[in-house]
Amino acid sequence: MSIKVLGTGFYVPPRAVTNDELSQMVDTSDEWIMQRVGIRERRVSVDETTADMATKAAKNALVSAGIEASELDLIVVGTISSDTACPTVAGMVQRAIGAKCPAFDISSACSGFMFALETAAAYVARGNVKNVLVIGAERLSKLLDWKDRSTCIIFGDGAGAAVVTKGEGYLASTMYTQGSDEVLFIPDVVGSSPFYERTEKPRFVYMDGQETFKFAVGRIARDVKEVAQKAGITLDRINHVVTHQANIRIIEFASKKLKIPMEKFFVNIEKYGNTSAASVPIALAELHASGKLKRGDIVALCAFGGGLSSAACIIKW
Ligand code: COA
Repeated sequence: MSIKVLGTGFYVPPRAVTNDELSQMVDTSDEWIMQRVGIRERRVSVDETTADMATKAAKNALVSAGIEASELDLIVVGTISSDTACPTVAGMVQRAIGAKCPAFDISSACSGFMFALETAAAYVARGNVKNVLVIGAERLSKLLDWKDRSTCIIFGDGAGAAVVTKGEGYLASTMYTQGSDEVLFIPDVVGSSPFYERTEKPRFVYMDGQETFKFAVGRIARDVKEVAQKAGITLDRINHVVTHQANIRIIEFASKKLKIPMEKFFVNIEKYGNTSAASVPIALAELHASGKLKRGDIVALCAFGGGLSSAACIIKW
């Protein structure tokens, strides 16, 4: 298809919050979180905005790609934790790195980076643009209820980025949306309008963990099979699976369902937790930096989350 990955980069804020530290705040334990979710610690931004983190990831991706910000034709950011409704995170990154191209955000929760990648591929296929900076960046820590043990233990902050260009490395893709606010709900900021009618909706992130779990396992298996079929490859040809890091048990279930061994799944959930739209690009950038990705490798990327939404694609490295 239309694009190939030129370079990747990521950034996570320095403040690590361990499970032991969380156990001082809510009724939980390192043992429970490690067993049920697989997270040991997560990074939390103390003073960096989503755009600050996105900018650092972007700069690293530009270095990795070996191109200048002035060579970018488009910037697309997947995020649900924009610092402001306007300007966008993408706009602030554009200014910070000194790019001149159009820039906009896409909102699709944890699938946000994948939706942004598909958008980049569509623009390149149209012939309008050549080089696109695609970012997933989140500061979900500011939206969480830190007294709710079912959500505050799961999420972390960070940003991941990829520079893509015209090429033949994007073999197949799929996107899925199942509109729902019952399973996963993330609130928006409400001003002080006297005309605004309050609803019964919770003010903080709400998640039905078990329903999300079922949705995730089902979608990863279905989406990866679908894109492999579209790309004309069998599942055993896949060298690496870079999936959204939401729960180690979800990844293990997906491995079993797809009959793709766990060794092929890149896993970094223990260090960063679930960084929403930043999760897949951080994992891809770490895999890239590890030197384990070889030219010609087949990589399956997949994500799922609020919306509800999911997406997957097959990349030839
Ligand atoms: N620490 C300790 N105990 C906890 C806890 C915590 N942080 N959270 C819940 N519990 C307790 C529950 O109260 C319950 O206790 P009970 O048996 O006495 O009633 C028990 O642990 C089991 O709770 P349950 O909700 O059934 O746990 P679970 O195995 O489903 O794990 C999640 C909960 C959230 C970790 C899991 O459902 C999950 O990861 N879901 C997917 C979430 C996801 O992917 N979200 C991101 C989407 S992008």
